Amino acid sequence: MGRLVGKHALVTGGSSGIGLETARQFLAEGAKVAITGRSQDGLDQAKRELGDGLLTFRADASDLSAHAIVVDELSSAWPAVDILMCNAADPTQLPFEEWTPDRFDRLVATNLKGPFFLIQSLLPFFARPASIILIGSVSALIGHRHSTAYGATKAGLTALAPGLSYELKERGIRVNSISPGPIVTNAFKALDPAVRDALYEEFARQVPIGRNGQAIEIAKAAVYLGSDESGFTVAQLIRIDGGLGHVAVG
Ligand SMILES: NC(=O)c1ccc[n+]([C@@H]2O[C@H](COP(=O)([O-])OP(=O)(O)OC[C@H]3O[C@@H](n4cnc5c(N)ncnc54)[C@H](OP(=O)(O)O)[C@@H]3O)[C@@H](O)[C@H]2O)c1
Repeated sequence: MGRLVGKHALVTGGSSGIGLETARQFLAEGAKVAITGRSQDGLDQAKRELGDGLLTFRADASDLSAHAIVVDELSSAWPAVDILMCNAADPTQLPFEEWTPDRFDRLVATNLKGPFFLIQSLLPFFARPASIILIGSVSALIGHRHSTAYGATKAGLTALAPGLSYELKERGIRVNSISPGPIVTNAFKALDPAVRDALYEEFARQVPIGRNGQAIEIAKAAVYLGSDESGFTVAQLIRIDGGLGHVAVG
């Protein structure tokens, strides 16, 4: 029997990469799944791939009024939300000198403020028990090129897990984070393919086990955190990064 039978899961940023693969694995384990994304084409493609049972919502993770609509529509479609995965993110990486206050505000609005208030607006609607999964990044833990602002937003996001686990424990809600290392997804689709390949090769050389990760390797951990198997796992940061920062390279 599926590990998520009877559960309802919302995955933000679910039309590509880690979010799409997680939606696929959640469905395979018996959950009902809803995803968000900004591009209607991306959402339609995900529905074609994962089937008509998938609910899709066009909503920007930084837009609090869009969240209100998602919560409203989900609450009429589902009895409750058992799993929330905050996965949508602005991946912008820039040299420190190039950040402007507006761009910085957009990054924080998408990667930190949006998820914070999405969780707040879902509060009346969470099942008991429920599991919240926050997708961080190795960039929050290890400094690297152009990663300062992005890494700081991810550090902020994953730092919500201990505080929220405390504040929400009486409601039966657990909050944990996953910190992916370099994972092959569409995150760099805007780059020229040759530049993108070179970037992934450079990442792979930095990973102690000598390769980049696959979205399914994150999605499987999300299945664990979303399921009742992880009932004693609270406020943890699970690093899935090929040993980056823990194991020497070479
Ligand atoms: N790939 C990596 O190496 C890596 C490493 C560490 C952490 N992560 C984290 O993993 C998560 C998923 O990344 P990914 O690599 O799977 O990226 P991806 O393949 O580019 O997918 C990103 C997904 O999020 C959606 N999205 C982006 N911005 C959004 C917004 N403002 N509001 C709503 N949806 C939005 C995208 O759809 P639309 O564009 O249509 O909105 C898409 O469905 C992110 O939190 C990222 O920071 C990734």
